[in-house]
Amino acid sequence: MNILSVTAEIFPLVKTGGLADVAGSLPKALRAHGINTRSIVPGYPAVMRALRGTSVVSQYDDLFGERATLLAAEPDGLELFVLDAPAFFDRPGPPYTDRNGREYEDNWKRFAALSLVASQIAAGLVANWRPDIIHAHDWHAALSLVYLKYAGNGSIPRIMTVHNMAFQGQFPAYHFRNLGLPDEAYSIDGVEYYGDLGYLKGGLQAADAITVVSPTYAREVMSPAFGMGLEGVMNARHADVVGIVNGIDMDVWDPASDPYIDQTYSARTPLRRLPNRQALLDLFGLENTSGPVFASVNRLTWQKGMDLLAATAREIVEAGGTLVVQGEGDAGIERAFLELMRRFPHRVGVRIGFDEALAHRIHAGADAMLVPSRFEPCGLTQLYALRYGCVPVVSRTGGLSETIIDANDAALHAQVATGIQFAPIDAHGLRLALRRAFKLFRRRGDWEGLRRQGMKTDCSWHRSAARYAELYGELLNPDIRLAG
Ligand code: ADP
Ligand code: GLC
Repeated sequence: MNILSVTAEIFPLVKTGGLADVAGSLPKALRAHGINTRSIVPGYPAVMRALRGTSVVSQYDDLFGERATLLAAEPDGLELFVLDAPAFFDRPGPPYTDRNGREYEDNWKRFAALSLVASQIAAGLVANWRPDIIHAHDWHAALSLVYLKYAGNGSIPRIMTVHNMAFQGQFPAYHFRNLGLPDEAYSIDGVEYYGDLGYLKGGLQAADAITVVSPTYAREVMSPAFGMGLEGVMNARHADVVGIVNGIDMDVWDPASDPYIDQTYSARTPLRRLPNRQALLDLFGLENTSGPVFASVNRLTWQKGMDLLAATAREIVEAGGTLVVQGEGDAGIERAFLELMRRFPHRVGVRIGFDEALAHRIHAGADAMLVPSRFEPCGLTQLYALRYGCVPVVSRTGGLSETIIDANDAALHAQVATGIQFAPIDAHGLRLALRRAFKLFRRRGDWEGLRRQGMKTDCSWHRSAARYAELYGELLNPDIRLAG
């Protein structure tokens, strides 16, 4: 079975968050099910630099007014189609924003171009590789399903995966006439969205199946607080919605072979983890207190509740702990953490920026990973933390609530707890969770139990890749689906 995956990011070539990790690792996991995935991605500079031995699939003189070439290549073990369209993608810096952090004005066109070409591949553009299913990730890819739906040539099944409802690809309606879609597509069943254009909305309407990156978030987005305007569409499509929790790449995130960390270790050799803790403290110039080393590797945004952490960090210092924060995002939150570091230089370490290697070292060295998100579709950092023996302290929402088992009395007693969950999701809730963490950390047996249990948890793609494989199978054999 061949799957065409459409994505704006893919690890290890281009990553701003978990979307890249999933787009990079799910195809590997699907191979075990006899499924071959090729991903179409934009030809950003980092992608173009990684290509060797490419072949030209097709050329465009006028793709939304620009020249472009569709290439096929296999860098870093990935199987890719790359849309080399310099006018759209040959830009330095992050994929969606300019140097000042502003969204590019032509994002509507850049990702419509990616999507249009993806829809052509789905319709049979490539003679020697025909997909059986098209699988679009997030708003950047959503129009590919819309183009296919309105092309109306008996096309292949279409899947839309929602990684985050907060990012919808909403643009002014006047761009519609430039998308090359028939007039009927500007409708409630198409891309019309509160008088604007909604790319994700169009993708949801055009999809045969919709997946959401955790079952809890799949339920949450049915309500306005989490659906963010799309709850109506999600409710209307509920029969076709399925929540599938993300897995992680067990090779990339493996403390037993991680090239970035000072000392490799495993669940069987927990003492060998200790040098990583000291190395982390040294790296940030922090004191080795008897309290826990808390960390957070995160986008510094409201979604991630990082303002809540900034507001409670003082409590960590006063109770005798240390804090390491790595991330980038809102200027105000960045400033708040830098200010904390100035006030408590030996107890709070902050690194603003995106750095994959450092993220690994933090997971390997910290005692606890803080993920205080206000909403979290799935979340990967808590899964990496489990695997690295770094106890997750998470808010009770979305994927966090179903990947971490709270250390309540019953769970501790049954030896199934893997972390700490808190609610309500506000500064006070987080403060209480930190206090619980301090207490558990002092009861060494309990803390070690949490760590051990976390490291035993299966965070691989094993079960979830099987769910995707099953869904693909159902879409290709609708009879099975009806029977089920
Ligand atoms: P989201 O995709 O919403 O940002 P996830 O938890 O799913 O959240 O994925 C975030 C991914 O990005 C993880 O792999 C995490 O380690 C990584 N990450 C986040 N911020 C940084 C950073 N500043 N440097 C390196 N990696 C980061
Ligand atoms: C999004 C979500 C995150 C999820 C990731 C991968 O970025 O915010 O929760 O883990 O996508 O699906």
